[in-house]
Amino acid sequence: MRSCFCLMAVASLLFAGFGFAHLGNATAPDDPPTISDIMKEVMKPGMLRKAMNGEATDEEKIQILDVLITLTEHEPPQGEADAWKARTTQLMTDYAKFLVGREGAAEALRTSSNCKSCHNEFKP
Ligand code: HEC
Repeated sequence: MRSCFCLMAVASLLFAGFGFAHLGNATAPDDPPTISDIMKEVMKPGMLRKAMNGEATDEEKIQILDVLITLTEHEPPQGEADAWKARTTQLMTDYAKFLVGREGAAEALRTSSNCKSCHNEFKP
């Protein structure tokens, strides 16, 4: 019974995450958020920092994971596509490790989520 309940909780969290993919100024309801949407609605308001400080709800934690996955699926407006893929995959992996409580993950996440170093390379 217990594991059944957990599965349901995870399913509802995932569902909440998918709903979030529809945020922003997407032209069609099924369009994933753009890099710009993610920056304005997740990074700038400090949602990731909130999660790192242990202040995010479970739903918010899943929403962040969802948009970090989406980042890896975009092409950067500037810089090498391969380097962007590596950088965003690192960020997503560090965040996932942080969520499951891996040792040293918070420190790695602070580096990979650094706003300025990523903007220097990929933001026009
Ligand atoms: C993995 C790389 C990466 C990280 C980390 C990152 N950004 Fe960005 N950010 C970008 C890129 C690329 C753009 C340019 C998007 C575009 O112009 O399409 C951008 C654009 C922005 C914008 C302008 C959005 C707009 O279109 O008006 C803001 C604001 C922003 N980032 C805030 C932040 C903050 C705050 C952080 C750190 C907490 C952060 N970003 C971390 C890659 C990143």
